[in-house]
Amino acid sequence: MSGIEGKVVAITGASSGIGEATALLLAERGAKIVLGARRPERLEALAARIEKAGGDATWARTDVTRREDLAGLVKLARDRYGKLDVLVSNAGIGLISRLDDLRVEDWEEMIDVNLKGVLYGIAAALPVFREQGFGHFVNTVSTAGLRIVPLQSVYAGTKNAVRTISEGLRQEAGDSLRVTVVSPGAVRTDFAERMDPAAKAQIDKMMETALSPDAVARAIAFAIEQPDGVDVGDIVVRPTAQG
Ligand SMILES: NC(=O)c1ccc[n+]([C@@H]2O[C@H](COP(=O)([O-])OP(=O)(O)OC[C@H]3O[C@@H](n4cnc5c(N)ncnc54)[C@H](OP(=O)(O)O)[C@@H]3O)[C@@H](O)[C@H]2O)c1
Repeated sequence: MSGIEGKVVAITGASSGIGEATALLLAERGAKIVLGARRPERLEALAARIEKAGGDATWARTDVTRREDLAGLVKLARDRYGKLDVLVSNAGIGLISRLDDLRVEDWEEMIDVNLKGVLYGIAAALPVFREQGFGHFVNTVSTAGLRIVPLQSVYAGTKNAVRTISEGLRQEAGDSLRVTVVSPGAVRTDFAERMDPAAKAQIDKMMETALSPDAVARAIAFAIEQPDGVDVGDIVVRPTAQG
């Protein structure tokens, strides 16, 4: 199957930013969307917006730090639409700080959401993809893992762990599953909201030339729309002005 029309796509972190933009774009192009995040009111409103525009969407409150929530999201896709074509593991947080600050709880939260959240998605979807004989993992990582800068080491570490696991998954996947990592540069979203002021200053500077989340959504759509035998492994999409 090629193209986007008729594919069933589950997206974590779908309540804002890149996940929301991806849901809207893929729905517009005929995908059936299964939305996951922790804020139900936002998911409900987004699903209603998609349906009002003639699309098809459903949602489930999903905390990616809970393995059973990912299993529930995948089950919802199959119960409602009969299959799952794509899992976009996009939920992520960037609680960046200097290592000297010893914000160990923030490190743990990033590991739980950014790394273990993706692993729980793999655990939920891989057996289903194997049974179906098709499936596509799309994991949102970051250019923070390509050019390492101060304050971002733990965040970048979680993203590069996902990059490494994705490559291992690709190698184990065989000829019927696809694995894509997308590395966005600076994107204008709510991403910096929970950062402390020093970290936010670094990010605010990057936001001056940041991309719209639609740019990342288009990159994800590009990977999904390729014919079955074409595996787009790695996409980097960043502002032209980003160093
Ligand atoms: N913005 C950038 O410059 C940038 C650059 C590179 C990579 N990224 C990556 O892009 C992805 C999306 O971020 P964004 O920029 O779109 O920021 P965002 O607007 O803050 O979106 C983050 C999403 O993740 C969800 N989320 C957070 N914790 C979660 C959890 N425990 N369980 C389920 N969902 C959770 C949030 O929803 P709820 O709060 O409703 O759960 C939200 O939908 C992240 O993986 C981020 O690391 C962003």
